[in-house]
Amino acid sequence: MWQEIDRVLISREEIAARLEDLAGTIASELAGGELLVIGVLKGAVIFLADLVRKLPFPVEIDFLAVSSYGKSSVSSGVVRITKDLDYDITGRRVLLVEDIVDTGLTLNYLLGHLKSRQPQLLKVCVLLDKPERRKVPVQVDYVGFTIPDEFVVGYGLDYAGRYRNLPDICVLKREVYQAPRA
Ligand code: PRP
Ligand code: MN
Ligand code: MG
Repeated sequence: MWQEIDRVLISREEIAARLEDLAGTIASELAGGELLVIGVLKGAVIFLADLVRKLPFPVEIDFLAVSSYGKSSVSSGVVRITKDLDYDITGRRVLLVEDIVDTGLTLNYLLGHLKSRQPQLLKVCVLLDKPERRKVPVQVDYVGFTIPDEFVVGYGLDYAGRYRNLPDICVLKREVYQAPRA
């Protein structure tokens, strides 16, 4: 079924438990005003869907899409917005939700883009942080898990577009994404 998977790194139960804490923190810090939750397509979709359902007040949802990785497992370093927000965020309280911060290039670019529209508040929540891979320092306010430098898929994260629907966060077998040695 999931033949290219090496092992589970973070189980669905661990994710669910961590989301309770994360949502509790976010709820206590960001309650008391309208909140717009922005997800970054496509990786953040599953995380955002679970997270917002744990917040005890109504929020609005919007999405942005960027292209950077394409089908490669290595970042091209070039970030481009392929779908912008539907809402105007000027003067609004915003929570940006990402599945993973790796080099930081995507988040760094997006934060610049969003800040230029002058939201009243801009907070960042990422499920996974891979600090070893960081190329640019980036603002992250809420982190689910800090993970080692391994290629992970599942719970929204893909390899070549696949595995987003895997319920656990798993490590892919190396031979899947590494070309065999010549
Ligand atoms: C992945 C991931 C983050 C970004 C993190 O998105 O979902 O958005 O890369 O990498 P970085 O910190 O090195 O910029 P991807 O470009 O694969 O698009 P996807 O969300 O549609 O899978
Ligand atoms: Mn992404
Ligand atoms: Mg991806």
